[in-house]
Amino acid sequence: MPLGSKRVSMINYAIRDLVNYAKKLENEGRRIIYLNIGDPALFFETPAHIREALAKASIEGNSYYAPSEGIPKLREAICRKEREVNKVNGLTPDDVVVTAGVSEGIQLVLQAIADVGDEILVPDPSYPPYISYSFLSGVNPKTYRCMEEEGWKPDIDDIRSKVGEKVRGIVLINPNNPSGAVYSEKTVKEIIDVAGEHGIPVISDEIYDQIVYDGSFKSTASISYDVPVIGLNGLSKTYLITGWRLGYVYFYDPEGVLDGLKEGVKKMARMRLSVNTPAQVAGVAALNGSREHIKELVSSLRERRDYSFKRLNELTGVYCEKPQGAFYIFPKLNLEKWKRDDEFVVELLKSKGVLLVSGSGFGEMGRGHVRIVFLPPMEVLEEAFNKIEEFISSC
Ligand SMILES: Cc1ncc(COP(=O)(O)O)c(C=O)c1O
Repeated sequence: MPLGSKRVSMINYAIRDLVNYAKKLENEGRRIIYLNIGDPALFFETPAHIREALAKASIEGNSYYAPSEGIPKLREAICRKEREVNKVNGLTPDDVVVTAGVSEGIQLVLQAIADVGDEILVPDPSYPPYISYSFLSGVNPKTYRCMEEEGWKPDIDDIRSKVGEKVRGIVLINPNNPSGAVYSEKTVKEIIDVAGEHGIPVISDEIYDQIVYDGSFKSTASISYDVPVIGLNGLSKTYLITGWRLGYVYFYDPEGVLDGLKEGVKKMARMRLSVNTPAQVAGVAALNGSREHIKELVSSLRERRDYSFKRLNELTGVYCEKPQGAFYIFPKLNLEKWKRDDEFVVELLKSKGVLLVSGSGFGEMGRGHVRIVFLPPMEVLEEAFNKIEEFISSC
């Protein structure tokens, strides 16, 4: 009998699926352009004051396990950042749990919020770990539609039709991965209202909160009057420290209904001991320090976003919405030869050495799309889009 659990065999992570194959091609001497992984720290330098803080934290010790919920100074800095940047008022350090990236936050929250057989509403297309971690926890991820023709806005009627008795929370990813959509205040309010009507929290992933080009981003908790919000956020993207693994969960709980759940997440945090201690000490310096680098990051990315959008819309058979935040563009392919997005991605890699992610890896609504990361410098993007253009015109 083959060894290995069925639960794990259900896991999918399209974003990294083809990396080994791409590396093999690279080892054979091929030039590969990676437009698959959303890692800004590969292309932008981590600010010096943040790197120095990490070095100092390690030189000065800090080699012990930190408190499981996170070091007090970091939990305080998180409350301050959420208040100043996202206008989320009323959080205290007790409402915050530091995690090894938002990835761990997703895992802890899904396990603490739902029992086997319960349901979680997740967007389609979605960041894949929401689906995979649900499966691993025995929770059923029910997807709600986001509408491409309306800038990938969540379909509120679809959400309403799917919130049944078993649903324990509604996941919102804003700004969104993979679509790059930033939702209007009205849309966020509508989702808060549906959650409120059913007495469940909104689980709001805001990891791209400070990477916004157009429209105005509103943090869910900042506009919720009485509906509880579980916020997921982290330092990976905006502070350019993806590899340090630093994120957090907060419980915005105006009516005091999340105490049990908060304690559940803290219990789980105790079970995994602690998050990297020196990284937490440096995280305080990151959050309390200058935010100048974020302006520069967003300004460079805006140019890359505009260029990618222009190049893609010039291609026959390709259509895309303009991303308003994050660093992904999610075009739809309407190409005679390519009925399947995953085949398109494999053939593009083999023939031109450009690695994208197939849209179906993000859910049913992603079918027929590809996700392109526009983080690399302009000259690399130009080379990549020239190759994509050659590939499509040769089809
Ligand atoms: C929407 C979203 N949430 C969470 C994560 C995970 O980030 P990290 O674990 O580095 O904090 C990502 C990373 O790409 C993301 O796009």
